[in-house]
Amino acid sequence: MKKVITYGTYDLFHEGHYNLLKHAKELGDYLIVGVTTQHFDQMRGKMNVVDPILTRIENVRKTGFADEIIVEDHEGQKIEDIQNYDIDIFTVGSDWTGKFDYLNAYCEVRYLPRTPNISSTMIREHAKPILQIGVIGSGRMAPRFIDESRYVSGAYVGAVYNPMVESARAFQEKYQIEVQTEDFDQFVDSVDAVYIASPNETHYEYAKRVLQAGKHVLSEKPLAFTREKTMELYDLAHEKHAILMEGIRTAYAPSFQQLINIAKSGKIGEIRDVEATFTRIADERSRERTDAEFGGAFLEFAGYTMLPIFKIFGLDYEDVTIDSICDENGLDVYTKMQFRYKDGMATAKMGVGVKSEGNLVISGTKGYVLAPSPWWLTKKFDIRYEDASQVDHYDMNFMGDGLRYELAEFVSKINKSEKKDFKLTAEESIRMSDVVEKFMRQERGMK
Ligand code: CTP
Repeated sequence: MKKVITYGTYDLFHEGHYNLLKHAKELGDYLIVGVTTQHFDQMRGKMNVVDPILTRIENVRKTGFADEIIVEDHEGQKIEDIQNYDIDIFTVGSDWTGKFDYLNAYCEVRYLPRTPNISSTMIREHAKPILQIGVIGSGRMAPRFIDESRYVSGAYVGAVYNPMVESARAFQEKYQIEVQTEDFDQFVDSVDAVYIASPNETHYEYAKRVLQAGKHVLSEKPLAFTREKTMELYDLAHEKHAILMEGIRTAYAPSFQQLINIAKSGKIGEIRDVEATFTRIADERSRERTDAEFGGAFLEFAGYTMLPIFKIFGLDYEDVTIDSICDENGLDVYTKMQFRYKDGMATAKMGVGVKSEGNLVISGTKGYVLAPSPWWLTKKFDIRYEDASQVDHYDMNFMGDGLRYELAEFVSKINKSEKKDFKLTAEESIRMSDVVEKFMRQERGMK
């Protein structure tokens, strides 16, 4: 008996899928179809899959071509399956030509002609209008956002705004952006949603103006320097039925959520301490090193370091202290934060002029989680115990620099497919702004 295997997501099942399965079945006597989990798809950078896995499996089953359906949930599984199921032929559509040649070592590899002019991506994009996104600011983050947005279907960067017109024009030209204008209202009118990547002190004003126009906002952190202003933005978003998201990218990465969930699963016992460190020696001429009012280590990194602390211990800390080492201009090159909770404590260390080990360590009564740098792009972590020979390793796939997960979430929220707000809640974002406010009053003399 000749056994054939093929894999796919089979989202919004279409004619191309049907034809592929039909041909695959004709290649042999027994067809196994691997259907990917949403988690696996996200890990390999396929965002915004619409149908739940059971629907996708059911659609494959209904074709009658599959003799067996299995679930694909991890990298490297194809070789395991080929060996376990004793497969003769591996096949996929011609869009993958060459990509699976390495499987020739295990079985025959056949690329089947792809049905032209149809794909799940096309259907997804037709079902929902493509969101026009405008970018405010054309500095360091904006090019990264453009690169990453290419991996997210349903959104398109169509406009750029920067009061420094030269920079905006150069950016427009380089990335072929349609709209570039000095008129802010015109800019907002031309888009459905805005990504704010301008200097820290401008986030609040821009976010407010965009929300007032009823458009959605994804803003780099921090949203604002006070709790009151942060709350005002969330209230405004609510009133205007617009989405407001703070861009702490780590929060939206599936691998980071998994780390937190495993830490809280009881494996390391009761959690008593979290230590999160994020340092980068920034260029002496950069805004982070020269802007003594709105630069510095805290404003650069506190969003990241507070995230695991709040996710693990919650929002009700009893006390927080902040201590900084500043340069001659009063800019914090290094800041340490200490949180006290009823049954635990946490430390955050941040540096733009001091280098340290960028670990995340979550300590419990039975063991600890150790995520090495760059834990904010969670790629791997260990669970370790008293018995040093017992170590559980977790390796995950984290695509790009994380912006794509954040943008995918933003698009899903705008399209209402992602209703639950657990990745970074408004409440979490507001409580982080409490700490930002404390820092600004204490270290920057903000009134
Ligand atoms: N396929 C095909 N013809 C199409 C679309 C897909 O033959 N027009 C094949 C793919 O090559 C693959 C299988 O169908 O072998 C499952 O593909 P999947 O990635 O689920 O479908 P796509 O429509 O390509 O999805 P997306 O747009 O999300 O990439």
